[in-house]
Amino acid sequence: MLSKDMNTVLNRQIQAEFQASYIYLAMSAYCDSLYLSGFAAWMRRQSEEERGHAMRLFDFVLARGGDVVLLAVDKPNPKFGSPLEMFETVLNHEQNVTKQIHDAYKKALKQKDHATEVELQWFITEQVEEEKTAGDILARLKMVGKDTATLLMLDKELGEE
Ligand code: FEO
Repeated sequence: MLSKDMNTVLNRQIQAEFQASYIYLAMSAYCDSLYLSGFAAWMRRQSEEERGHAMRLFDFVLARGGDVVLLAVDKPNPKFGSPLEMFETVLNHEQNVTKQIHDAYKKALKQKDHATEVELQWFITEQVEEEKTAGDILARLKMVGKDTATLLMLDKELGEE
C-alpha cells in the first residue's frame, strides 16, 4: 500500500507527464505552422511517449491500491520562438522533470517503499535518454545557425526517425 504522501507525489508526477505531453503537442502544432513537418512529427511522438509515461504511473498507483487524482495541466504557450529556442525550452523542461523524479525517488528511499523505488528507477533511466536526445538536437541546432538548407535537412531526419 502506498503512503498518503507518496501517493500525492505520484499524482503530481502523473500531472507533470501529462503537462509534458501537452507542451510537446503544442510544440508539434507550432512546428507545423513553421512548415517544419519533421520537427512536428518528432514533437508529436514525444507527446505520445509522455502520455505513455503518465499512464504507466497511473497504472502503478492503481496496482498499489492508491488513489489516482488527476490534477489540472496548464495551457501551453502557443509560440516557442526559433527551433533553437524551442529546444532550449525542451531541455529545460526535461531537466525540471528529472529533478522532480529524483525528489520522488528520495522520498521512496526514505520510506523504504521498494516497489516505488523500482518503478521510479525506470523513469530515472528514461530521463537520461530524454535529456541526451534533447541536448543533442539543441547542439545540432546551434551548429545549423541561420542556414535554412541545413535546418531542412535536420527536419527531414527528425521526421524519418
Ligand atoms: Fe516523461 Fe520526459 O518526462
